[in-house]
Amino acid sequence: MTVIVTGGAGFIGSNFIFHMLDSHPDYRIVCLDKLTYAGNLATLESVMDNPSFRFVRADIADRDAVYALFEEEKPDIIVNFAAESHVDRSIENPEIFLKTNIIGTSVLMDACRKYGIKRYHQVSTDEVYGDLPLDRPDLFFTEETPLHTSSPYSSSKAGADLLVLAYYRTYGLPVTISRCSNNYGPYHFPEKLIPLMIINALHDKPLPVYGKGENVRDWLYVEDHCRAIDLIIHNGRVGEVYNVGGHNEMRNIDIVRLILKELGKSEDLITFVTDRKGHDLRYAIDPAKIHRELGWLPETKFSDGLKKTIRWYLDNESWWRPVISGEYQEYYEKMYSCR
Ligand code: NAD
Ligand code: DAU
Repeated sequence: MTVIVTGGAGFIGSNFIFHMLDSHPDYRIVCLDKLTYAGNLATLESVMDNPSFRFVRADIADRDAVYALFEEEKPDIIVNFAAESHVDRSIENPEIFLKTNIIGTSVLMDACRKYGIKRYHQVSTDEVYGDLPLDRPDLFFTEETPLHTSSPYSSSKAGADLLVLAYYRTYGLPVTISRCSNNYGPYHFPEKLIPLMIINALHDKPLPVYGKGENVRDWLYVEDHCRAIDLIIHNGRVGEVYNVGGHNEMRNIDIVRLILKELGKSEDLITFVTDRKGHDLRYAIDPAKIHRELGWLPETKFSDGLKKTIRWYLDNESWWRPVISGEYQEYYEKMYSCR
């Protein structure tokens, strides 16, 4: 089996590559990544010399480059993680989100039609369902929940999902889609909540909590997401959507407090800042379908996963230190200095 993993130099894609190389040593894994600000070859250092692994730098929206790779590798499975993934950046500059997340997805699927594949898997997000109210803990996103997006990011992901389902119905392309809740774990880019708070706390810098910190996210350890995708690409039903989440809802402020406690830092570092525009209130996944059909259950408890993640950032300063220099500092200044 040859599997092309797009976006494999990013957070979840890299963890998925490690998972696949461990779980399927007989597979060939080809990573296709443009190496945007969020892609980092240092993340893949440990597998670069693995004979079952190949890295190719290219843009998923570059038709010639994508077709050339398909021609050469004749892949069996495509798992598309490549995306612009940060909501705040999409609010500042939506266009690149449309190009990568929608056009890029269509180019990959055109290549699948042209060269033939066994499975195209789209890594989507629970954000396509919009948000749930804070005062209705009985409500969850199921696969039947209507798409109802809030940000340019989530709209671009929903657009891609619709296109994937259209390629299934119109051309019979063997597709599956997973819609996962918020991931956390090693190699998470420090613009996102958990790594940003860990790294700021380590520097005794203010921890910028949007609004009152009452928004709720449903956190899943990244390895649990990788196992879910592995199950879906092998055993999931073609044309189906699978929600992935671990019933682990947390308020942002409570996560920030846990991080401070774990690091032995003062809560005085917490700074409430202007809210995100259109900020989704609550995400909560109902994972009944993937459990029922594929036997998937999360394995990592949040308290253990958060401790492991904090430990990873403490032990891997050599990974994040270069990431937060240069361009990241400009980004941070722009997003947070006058907030
Ligand atoms: P990330 O931003 O950490 O990584 C994205 C990767 O895609 C980077 O390596 C980047 O270089 C690459 N990339 C971007 N544009 C590209 C292009 N045009 N061509 C080729 N490569 C390109 O993202 P992530 O958090 O790892 O998310 C991966 C996927 O999972 C995304 O599709 C995202 O929507 C989805 N997702 C993320 C989460 C989460 O909590 N992070 C949850 C659910 C779903
Ligand atoms: O739900 C899945 C989604 O989770 C993925 O599709 C996205 O790619 C991923 O980035 C993530 O989106 P969120 O917007 O939920 O994640 P983020 O880490 O940006 O923010 C999490 C919550 O924390 C959100 O309510 C906003 C808040 N926040 C975030 C940052 C960066 C803060 O309060 N302060 C911050 O500085």
